[in-house]
Amino acid sequence: MKTSNKHLFSSSKDLLSRTEKEKLLNQKGIVLWLTGLSGSGKTTLAKAVSEQLHNNGFLTQVLDGDNIRLGINSNLSFTLEDRMENIRRTAEMAKLFVDCGVVTICCLVSPTEKIRTLAKEIIGKKDFFEVFINTPLNICEERDVKGLYELARKGEVKNFTGISAPFENPKSPSLEIKTEGVNIATSTEEMMEAILPKISFNK
Ligand code: ADX
Repeated sequence: MKTSNKHLFSSSKDLLSRTEKEKLLNQKGIVLWLTGLSGSGKTTLAKAVSEQLHNNGFLTQVLDGDNIRLGINSNLSFTLEDRMENIRRTAEMAKLFVDCGVVTICCLVSPTEKIRTLAKEIIGKKDFFEVFINTPLNICEERDVKGLYELARKGEVKNFTGISAPFENPKSPSLEIKTEGVNIATSTEEMMEAILPKISFNK
């Protein structure tokens, strides 16, 4: 049900500023937006990076597509339209976190340029750090951790990214992580190196 918002007023001007919160945390907020095929390693990498950051004194939050689809987005399917809505809501949540100075790691397939542009527009260019987890389809399918590729090939799961729904490689991601033949520690290190300068004051 779409309702009118013409009688709503933003109350953000009297609230504590992001800068004040970042000072409290002694860190700068950012959204790391991990995009890639199902089974490409987004969640695994997000967990490893958030753990390392935590151990180094940074406050993090992981927003994972699978989990979010079990909760706030449980009414959404995998049509392109519902994927857009999935990304819109997640980006709005990420924005709330980054405005608190939190290092926010989003792991969603986010399969098209249009979808990722939407996320970037909501979050804001300066806070949006796009990470392409580049694992070839054949490797994801070989791993088939959740058994979904097999079901997609049989036609038992419809609109499956890479099989019966598109995945457009990002044209110019902030960072590309190629996982084929690379261990998780190396990929984690690659990501840590890229983001530490962006989130540190003087740590
Ligand atoms: S997105 O396209 O809207 O960004 P999201 O990241 O939330 O997708 O969810 C993807 C996860 O849902 C996959 O990792 C997989 O486990 C599961 N899934 C179930 N059905 C599909 C499908 N048709 N296409 C892609 N992923 C699916």
